[in-house]
Amino acid sequence: MNDCPARPAPELFTWEFATDPYPAYAWLREHSPVHRTTLPSGVEAWLVTRYADARQALADSRLSKNPAHHAGTANAKGKTGIPGERKAELMTHLLNIDPPDHTRLRRLVTKAFTPRRVAAFAPRVQELTDRLIDGFADRGEADLIHEFAFPLPIYAICDLLGVPREDQDDFRDWAGMMIRHGGGPRGGVARSVKKMRGYLAELIHRKRENPGDDLISDLIRASDHGEHLTENEAAAMAFILLFAGFETTVNLIGNGIHALLREPEQRERLQRSLAEGGTELLETGIEELLRYDGPVELATWRYATVPLTLGGQDIAAGDPVLVVLAAADRDPARFPEPDVLDLARSDNQHLGYGHGIHYCLGAPLARLEGRTALATLLTRLPDLRLAVGTADLRWRGGLIMRGLRTLPVEFGA
Ligand code: HEM
Repeated sequence: MNDCPARPAPELFTWEFATDPYPAYAWLREHSPVHRTTLPSGVEAWLVTRYADARQALADSRLSKNPAHHAGTANAKGKTGIPGERKAELMTHLLNIDPPDHTRLRRLVTKAFTPRRVAAFAPRVQELTDRLIDGFADRGEADLIHEFAFPLPIYAICDLLGVPREDQDDFRDWAGMMIRHGGGPRGGVARSVKKMRGYLAELIHRKRENPGDDLISDLIRASDHGEHLTENEAAAMAFILLFAGFETTVNLIGNGIHALLREPEQRERLQRSLAEGGTELLETGIEELLRYDGPVELATWRYATVPLTLGGQDIAAGDPVLVVLAAADRDPARFPEPDVLDLARSDNQHLGYGHGIHYCLGAPLARLEGRTALATLLTRLPDLRLAVGTADLRWRGGLIMRGLRTLPVEFGA
């Protein structure tokens, strides 16, 4: 598969690549669809870029999520992409385990994280959204990442979990530290992860004594009814909900608004539809924004447990396999005109939320937040525009996530 194409393989993980990885992914899809590469951390891994292979890999039980299967575990760092993650601490979360443990934990959290709970949360998401926009609406300019996309999901998930309001700004600071450095474990990041984890362990303890109407209390209750959720598992679960639900949603809002500001026809179409009270274009539009420039560029780590063949490529047992969702979702073999943003796109089975048993648990919450954020912003600030040229925008260069560092905008006179 890696044999001598006309053009040399593009350089991956450079600054240009972080800004616009799509041309490189198009090349890989065509010339080396299951591609061996050395990651910036020095770890070697396979990148899977075609839609059909990606979907197959995400559902393939021969690919384990357990880092113990990695042939080079001794040298590999940050395998789930969670900065500051340390072996014994947070390992027992959903994205690091296989059945039957995964099945048991996922069942427990699904009992607590119900569609009813998410639906009941809609008014609070709207209130948070409005409050954040109130903070800059009169100013004529804002950085939509720092003032909007970043705080909204952190306050939302804190509320849902049952973190008291007076403690939520601490979470905002810890999460800010994690996202700013978004990559390898550095001092500040590791400290923030530790503080967050310590806080959650204590909160779980308090909720056990004094349960409330919140997700953490429901997680504890689910474990108290004959099934087994240890305190460590509960803390790891709360942490993964926070972690998996935070930066992803920041990027859904940031990347989504960015794409709409660059495609004025699509954005006007959405604004017209919202003004007429329509919700259909908003619903298909969020899915299209996830496909077109989604928050999760690569699915989290998987490891071959046996020798296997994927997309015609032999993969050895112990090799890491990274499914490139951003490449699969632009595969012309699956999506007509994949590089075109079409908010009304139908038959849009994108992989932005993954596929198979690890399919995103928080998709209903992400959709709620994404729809509320975009609809409210475009309605309240109808003439929103970028304050800098797109070439001046900086993307965070992490391995797993794709998102902007800042999104300076102007509006009003
Ligand atoms: C899993 C994407 C928001 C919780 C995943 C996966 C993807 C994803 C691609 C699968 C990863 C893999 O297979 O390696 C997204 C996107 C989001 C989003 C694009 C926002 C737009 C959320 C939210 C929450 C959440 C808001 C929770 C509050 C989770 C959890 C998993 C997961 C717990 C692991 C599920 C498992 O392993 O069984 N997400 N996510 N996500 N997501 Fe999300």
